[in-house]
Amino acid sequence: MVNAKSAVVVTTGLTAAVVILTVAIFGAGLMRHGLSARDEPSALERTIARMARSAAVPHDASRLPNPVTPSDAVLAEARAHFADHCATCHANDGSGQTPIGQGLYPKPPDMRLATTQRMSDGELYYTIHNGIRLTGMPAFGEGGNDIDSWKLVIFIRHLPNVSAEELVEMKSLNPKSQGELEEEREEREFLAGSDDAKSDDHDSERTRASTHPIHRH
Ligand code: HEC
Repeated sequence: MVNAKSAVVVTTGLTAAVVILTVAIFGAGLMRHGLSARDEPSALERTIARMARSAAVPHDASRLPNPVTPSDAVLAEARAHFADHCATCHANDGSGQTPIGQGLYPKPPDMRLATTQRMSDGELYYTIHNGIRLTGMPAFGEGGNDIDSWKLVIFIRHLPNVSAEELVEMKSLNPKSQGELEEEREEREFLAGSDDAKSDDHDSERTRASTHPIHRH
């Protein structure tokens, strides 16, 4: 009895010491670096954040199996979805190397690496569906079991093997800024203009065809 009690006292004491130490380390870090989003989190900060995040996923949710069977069609759909909705922060290859991704704190992790690939399908799904509080990671899921997020899990599993051809295709599906759209419009007008110089029926066919977006490399 006495032993059990003193064990509790020791454990509580240790926990308190760890909490105080952690706060002190964060505090010291803050005083040195301020609150800029440009910083890299320390290894300790990363580990604690990841542990807290993993603990926050309900046990049942992290064990859910992916209801979607992988196929080329599913992969193509998820790839297009990722290029459109996720690549702004995560990059088409999942490296997180984009201007927006690098300006966030915490930054998106390189999802090709083991830390992400080790997460269960259920955990990845839960993260996409619900987002991650206090970070740039938005919640994407609506309603109950959203199949789109399960398909994205399949694409995330594929990231370590994504091919150069897939990346080219994804680039053409990335959202474009107003400036880029404007630039493309000018390019189209310029090309249409040079067609007009020798205008006949054939050329106006070509002009119409060229109103499709031009993919820049
Ligand atoms: C506005 C930026 C932004 C967008 C858009 C975004 N994410 Fe994230 N995402 C983040 C950040 C930042 C993190 C890291 C958060 C952290 O470290 O706690 C993250 C983390 C994740 C993780 C967890 C990875 C890990 O190793 O813990 C997954 C999975 C993920 N994102 C998938 C997606 C998918 C799929 C999409 C598109 C449907 C998406 N994200 C769109 C910013 C974004």
